[in-house]
Amino acid sequence: MRNGVFITLNRAADRDNITVDLTDEASIAALGERLGPLDHVVSTGSARARGRVPDLDRDAIRLSFDTKVIGPLMLAKHLAPRMSTSGSFVIFSGVAAAKIAVGTLGEQGKADYFADISARNPARRIGTPDDIAQAVIFALTSTFLTGQTLHIDGGEPLT
Ligand SMILES: NC(=O)c1ccc[n+]([C@@H]2O[C@H](COP(=O)([O-])OP(=O)(O)OC[C@H]3O[C@@H](n4cnc5c(N)ncnc54)[C@H](OP(=O)(O)O)[C@@H]3O)[C@@H](O)[C@H]2O)c1
Repeated sequence: MRNGVFITLNRAADRDNITVDLTDEASIAALGERLGPLDHVVSTGSARARGRVPDLDRDAIRLSFDTKVIGPLMLAKHLAPRMSTSGSFVIFSGVAAAKIAVGTLGEQGKADYFADISARNPARRIGTPDDIAQAVIFALTSTFLTGQTLHIDGGEPLT
């Protein structure tokens, strides 16, 4: 990576005083102006619409879509022109219509849930941050991978 600088983009200003709201195109454009030439962008920002479908309100769903779909497109619009031809975007996203809320299970419930997944999935374990980081590094160092969705899930959908 040419610049060798990681900047955490968040709604709260970081130590470099860079503030980005993925729902605010002007703040993304301002980021581009400030950063100059870029090599790689990894976007994980997301406002999740959590809860049971009957309890979700329209604004929360729109906000989630805004951060997971439109925001990353705006990042591409304003940051891609600043990239070298070997630059890359890695975008985290995710929409789940039904998912167990692990946080509500309690400690024993969580342990049982993770043990069950580990026993059933082909990887026979729970994923770690390193699993995700390795996939990101693979994606941003590959010069021939493009437009793909990587599923880093231990083969869970196969079970
Ligand atoms: N964690 C998982 O197991 C998992 C699995 C599959 C897919 N994913 C996907 O990966 C992505 C990241 O997940 P995560 O677990 O890291 O999410 P997370 O813990 O909820 O973190 C989301 C981050 O996005 C920031 N954010 C929220 N609204 C923003 C906005 N308008 N502009 C800029 N930043 C904003 C949040 O900042 P604040 O702290 O200021 O709110 C927070 O730092 C999501 O799209 C998720 O669906 C995650």
